[in-house]
Amino acid sequence: MSHKECESTLESNDYLPFPSEIVELVKHTDTEYTFRMSYTGNVKPGQFFEISIPKVGEAPISVSGIGEGTVDLTIRKAGTVTGHIFECRPGDALFMRGPYGNGFDIEDYRHRELFIIAGGTGFSPVRGVADYFFRHPGETKGLTIAAGFKTPKDILFRDDFIRWKTRGRVVVTVDSAAGDTAYPVGLVTGYIPVLEIEDPKEAAAIVVGPPAMMRFSVAGLLDKGFPESHIWVSYERKMCCGIGKCGHCRINDSYVCVDGPVFLLSRAKALLD
Ligand SMILES: Cc1cc2nc3c(=O)[nH]c(=O)nc-3n(C[C@H](O)[C@H](O)[C@H](O)COP(=O)(O)OP(=O)(O)OC[C@H]3O[C@@H](n4cnc5c(N)ncnc54)[C@H](O)[C@@H]3O)c2cc1C
Ligand code: FES
Repeated sequence: MSHKECESTLESNDYLPFPSEIVELVKHTDTEYTFRMSYTGNVKPGQFFEISIPKVGEAPISVSGIGEGTVDLTIRKAGTVTGHIFECRPGDALFMRGPYGNGFDIEDYRHRELFIIAGGTGFSPVRGVADYFFRHPGETKGLTIAAGFKTPKDILFRDDFIRWKTRGRVVVTVDSAAGDTAYPVGLVTGYIPVLEIEDPKEAAAIVVGPPAMMRFSVAGLLDKGFPESHIWVSYERKMCCGIGKCGHCRINDSYVCVDGPVFLLSRAKALLD
């Protein structure tokens, strides 16, 4: 193989990490930060990057925001790799590969009532969808967001919820008030039976969060009359390659890294843990 051929093979290798600079850091809580990374390629909400620290390892992280020449990654410090990422500051570089996965397709939700139900960092992948319809109110029949967090100090994207409330219905719940009475206490799934929906048969819903929360939310939406073909879920599954080669993320005949992580419920039913 000539030098030139070799170069072009490397350029088109989806598995190759590239360095990306941290341009801004937003600290939401002690263990959840948003890293704004320099990035200029195509990317959709709901896709993810594999973020790596040389000689330490890699972690798949969803895109929580897309800007001019940047992507946001909202990361919970969970263990080894994320612990090292939390040591990094603006000006430092992280290695990324991706974006991987299918992501959310805005077209699926356009001109429908859209209900977004999410728990904790599960809000990250769907944040871009909420923001799109906030910025394009003429393209939605209504936006309702129900987001659940453990305590008030765990609430992510606070400023976004305040902003979105000016054009949509936003409920932010906490599992426990921890002395702050500003937020209703209870599970976010408890709001599904009282959701006001004009036409459940035509509405769309996105559910992202821990497995139990997803199960109860989906059951509640089906009870309200949503068809399975109008409910989308996004999965966090342990991954390795991210490109459909290693089989780590496989459930039955689906590879979460390439067929997902966003699935229509009619397909995902068999995948719900
Ligand atoms: C498609 C996808 C998107 C994700 N998006 C985000 C995101 O936007 N923000 C974010 O903070 N995290 C996200 N995660 C989870 C994140 O990848 C893990 O928290 C991370 O890999 C942990 O790596 P670590 O080396 O820091 O922790 P480790 O030292 O490997 O593990 C620490 C703990 O986290 C658990 N853990 C590891 N990987 C996962 C996983 N995939 N799901 C659940 N538990 C896990 C381990 O079992 C262990 O208990 C996503 C995962 C997937 C698959
Ligand atoms: S992570 Fe390797 S096949 Fe999906």
